[in-house]
Amino acid sequence: MSAMNTWEAQAYQVFPYGHSAYSGDSQAALFYPGIYSRAEYDMLSILAQVEARPNPQIQLGPVDLSCAIIVCDLSAADEPIVYANSGFSLMTGYTLDEVRGKNCRFLQAPPEAGPVRPRSARRYVAKDTIRKMRKALDKRAELQVEVVNFKKNGESFVNILTMIPVVVDGRTLCVGFQCEKE
Ligand SMILES: Cc1cc2nc3c(=O)[nH]c(=O)nc-3n(C[C@H](O)[C@H](O)[C@H](O)COP(=O)(O)O)c2cc1C
Repeated sequence: MSAMNTWEAQAYQVFPYGHSAYSGDSQAALFYPGIYSRAEYDMLSILAQVEARPNPQIQLGPVDLSCAIIVCDLSAADEPIVYANSGFSLMTGYTLDEVRGKNCRFLQAPPEAGPVRPRSARRYVAKDTIRKMRKALDKRAELQVEVVNFKKNGESFVNILTMIPVVVDGRTLCVGFQCEKE
């Protein structure tokens, strides 16, 4: 019991035996912090923050968990992906492990074309689209754009991307909601 943090202790008072059948072992009653988060980011809190942002510029409409969602850390060098959900994997063919640490610009060319370098000219995406994204991120502003992207299998698609920056524990994160245009 002494290993419990404050919220575990509170949860223990509400559900002293956990949600499963009581085994007689007090350790079995513990909740398991972190088992619902592979990337160590609390997406419920992050999405709640997106929902409660004070001055929304973009109407997201209903969002369910099938939506492709990605989170980038704008406080880190070159704004790496820190989280991508299974909707993103389904849409693009890339797993979280394959994209973690990368900047999302890698989606802007087919894999066989090699890496898309920062500040490089883009072969498949309009200059103006890149400029708009860069400007919005530099200003920490919300943006919705359509951008030509490529899946892991090389297939191109139009990605309807909405980027919403939020500050979480002093770090500026940006949540990207993505949808393949029909
Ligand atoms: C949360 C987030 C999600 C993004 N998702 C995409 C995406 O799905 N497709 C894409 O082409 N660019 C995406 N971007 C934009 C690129 O990462 C990059 O910011 C853009 O290409 C402009 O910057 P650059 O000139 O440094 O490449 C995303 C950026 C952020 C912060």
